[in-house]
Amino acid sequence: MKSEILKMLKTSSGYLSGQQLCEKFGVSRTAVWKVIRQLEEEGYKIEAVRNKGYRLTGEADVITQAELQSMLQTRWIGNRLEYFDETDSTNIRARKLAEEGAPHGTLVVADSQRTGKGRRGRAWISPRGVGIWMSLVLRPPICPAGASMLTLVAGMAVVKGVRKSTGLKAMIKWPNDAILSGKKICGILTEMSTEEDRIRYVITGIGINVNVSSFPEEIAEKATSLKEELGEAVKRSLVIAAVAEAFEEFYDSFLKTHDMSCLMEDYNKALVNRNRQVTVLDSRGQYQGRALGIDPEGSLLVQRRDGTVESVISGEVSVRGIYGYV
Ligand code: BTN
Repeated sequence: MKSEILKMLKTSSGYLSGQQLCEKFGVSRTAVWKVIRQLEEEGYKIEAVRNKGYRLTGEADVITQAELQSMLQTRWIGNRLEYFDETDSTNIRARKLAEEGAPHGTLVVADSQRTGKGRRGRAWISPRGVGIWMSLVLRPPICPAGASMLTLVAGMAVVKGVRKSTGLKAMIKWPNDAILSGKKICGILTEMSTEEDRIRYVITGIGINVNVSSFPEEIAEKATSLKEELGEAVKRSLVIAAVAEAFEEFYDSFLKTHDMSCLMEDYNKALVNRNRQVTVLDSRGQYQGRALGIDPEGSLLVQRRDGTVESVISGEVSVRGIYGYV
């Protein structure tokens, strides 16, 4: 009822009559008033006028279940939605839910994470109220070897969602970091559980620095936020909804071929390091070359100085710009 009342408040041009709400939901006036109070406590500004009803006069930057349900226009992402004010890590929560049988598309969102996880065992700093810390439970009908491409799909979804909701021209740094002004705004952590040669589930965790205004010294040089780039705060639920919609679109294309064939062209257009000199670091050492774009398997093609083209597989290497991060 709360998310529906919120949706009605958001879409109504005038006042919403308390009486109509009571009739629609078959509840008492007190029950409706309690929902309005809860929304006010979460930060929404609601004007109540006797004999007229309720009207939304100010939105809040919250990402609660009711807010997200009022914003999401997806087909399957978020049909099950779990919101936490605080949690250890949305990836850990999503994994637990997946083990308990949570369906494909289950979305876990938190306002803050105590122990956010980054790639390569690093921590992901996830302060309260200023970021998007979310994880998706996916049950893709593909072989385990293809799962790493879902990270690329997620990177494309973040870039498209950020562009749509803010107008900022986010780009991708292979394989999946979203970049603005040469700095990272988003990280993606994909984890998988398999059984013989079958995927049980994949957890795709997405962290976006939305209204973060300061970063720890060690990452300050290479991290930025949507707010820093735009010069004004961004409503997080708008970004989540746009990313989720884009993810559904790209995921459907991915499933047509079980690889990046249909997405390659769009991916390569958004690739910030395309045609740039990059340094590839793998277990054998490092070399330089020109990044050409991805192939249908999602590997980065890098042309060495002698003209040979290497196919760089994500997860095994790190690719950097020759002068810095990008
Ligand atoms: C990276 O190192 O670039 C990946 C960072 C991924 C962070 C996100 S935030 C939501 C989800 N929950 C986690 O604990 N990690 C991911």
